Amino acid sequence: MSPLAPTRRQLLATAPAVLAPTLLAGACTELQRSDRSALLGATLRLRAEARGLFFGAAANRTSLADRAFAATYTAEVGVLVPETEMKWRALRPTEGAFTFGSADALMDFAAGANLRARGHTLVWHEAWPEWLDAALSAGRAAAVLEQHIERVVSRYRGRMHSWDVVNEAIRLQDSPGHLRQTPWLEALGPRYLDIAFRTARAADPQALLVYNDFGLDDASPADSAKRAAVLDLLSDLKARGVPVDALGTQAHLRAGQVIDQGALAQFARSVAQLGLKLIVTELDVRDHGISGTLEERDRAIADHARRFLDPILAEPATIGVVTWGLSDRYSWLNGPRAERRSDGQPQRGLPLAPDLARKPLWGAIARALDDAPRR
Ligand code: XIL
Repeated sequence: MSPLAPTRRQLLATAPAVLAPTLLAGACTELQRSDRSALLGATLRLRAEARGLFFGAAANRTSLADRAFAATYTAEVGVLVPETEMKWRALRPTEGAFTFGSADALMDFAAGANLRARGHTLVWHEAWPEWLDAALSAGRAAAVLEQHIERVVSRYRGRMHSWDVVNEAIRLQDSPGHLRQTPWLEALGPRYLDIAFRTARAADPQALLVYNDFGLDDASPADSAKRAAVLDLLSDLKARGVPVDALGTQAHLRAGQVIDQGALAQFARSVAQLGLKLIVTELDVRDHGISGTLEERDRAIADHARRFLDPILAEPATIGVVTWGLSDRYSWLNGPRAERRSDGQPQRGLPLAPDLARKPLWGAIARALDDAPRR
C-alpha cells in the first residue's frame, strides 16, 4: 500500500459512513467478485491507487463541516481540491491583504485525513475581487500577479500535488490566437501566462503546474476546435520553455452529447506527445437533455462518463481523476447560479446521491479505474 493510502485504522474510523446500507448495496457485488478484504479495495481512492492513479474531489468548508459527508469523503477520496477557498475573491479582500483562514482550514483537514491536495486556481477571470480592476488600470498588473502567486504558492510549498495555474484562458471567438479577452490579457498581453507559470515554478518547484480548461469533451465542432486551440497553446508554451507540466481537462460533461472516443484518445496522445501529463480535474455530468425516471437518468449519466473516461484513462500520461464535488448533496450544478432542468428536478451529476448512496456514476468511475492500465 502506498504511504498515501489510508491505514486500516483510518478506514475503519470512516466505516460507519462507508457501511451505510444503501451504499453497501452497490459495493457488495464488487466485494463478492473480488477476494480483497472487506472494503479495502472498494473506494474510488484505492481503486485509483491500485492502478497508479489518484482519485480526488472538490470540497468546501460547508460540505466538510457535515460529518457524515466528511466521513464518506475521506474514505472515497485521495486528493482534496478547495472548490472556492483559494480563488482570488476568497484570498484577497483588498490589495494589501491576504486571508488564508479558509484555505488553511482545508489544508489542515487534508493533512489530518491523510489526503493530498491540489491548488485551484491562481489566474482566472472569475471570482474577481473588485479592487483588482483599479490595480490593473494603474499599471500594477505584473507586480500584483507575481506577488499573489508567490505568496499563495509558497505558503503551501511541499504540500501541493499540483496547482491549476491558469484557468480557462481560451475562448475561440475572442482573439486570433483564441486567448480569452480577460483583464489579464488586456493588461499584460499573452505574457501573463508565462509570468504565472514561471512565478509558480519558482515558488514551489515540486508541484505539478497545470493549465486547466473546459469544453474539451464531446464531438461537437466547438469542443473539437477548442481541443485544437488548447493543443496549440500548450505547444507554444512548451516550445518557449514555459514551465507547464500538465493539462487539466475539467470535464463538465453533458449527457446526450456525442462522445468520440477516437478523438479523445488522439487528444490525450497529443497531450502526452508534448511531454505533458493529463488530469481530469472537475468531472460531473449535467443531464438537461435526458428525460425519464431517476434510474434512466442515472444510467445515462454513468454511461456518458464511462465513454469519456475510457479513452482518457487508456492514455498512460493520464495521472488522475477529480470530480467537482462528491455527492449531489453539495454540487454547484444545483447551486444558485446553475441552469435548471426544465422539469425542475435537481441534477444528479456526482458519484453519490444526496443521501450519500453510491449511484451508477460511482460504479462507472470505479470500473473505468479498474480497467485502466497500471501505471
Ligand atoms: C465553481 C464553484 O463550484 C462554485 O461554487 C462557484 O460559485 C463558481 O465556481 N470551472 C472551475 C471552477 O474551474 O472553479 C468552477 O467552480 C466551476 C467551473
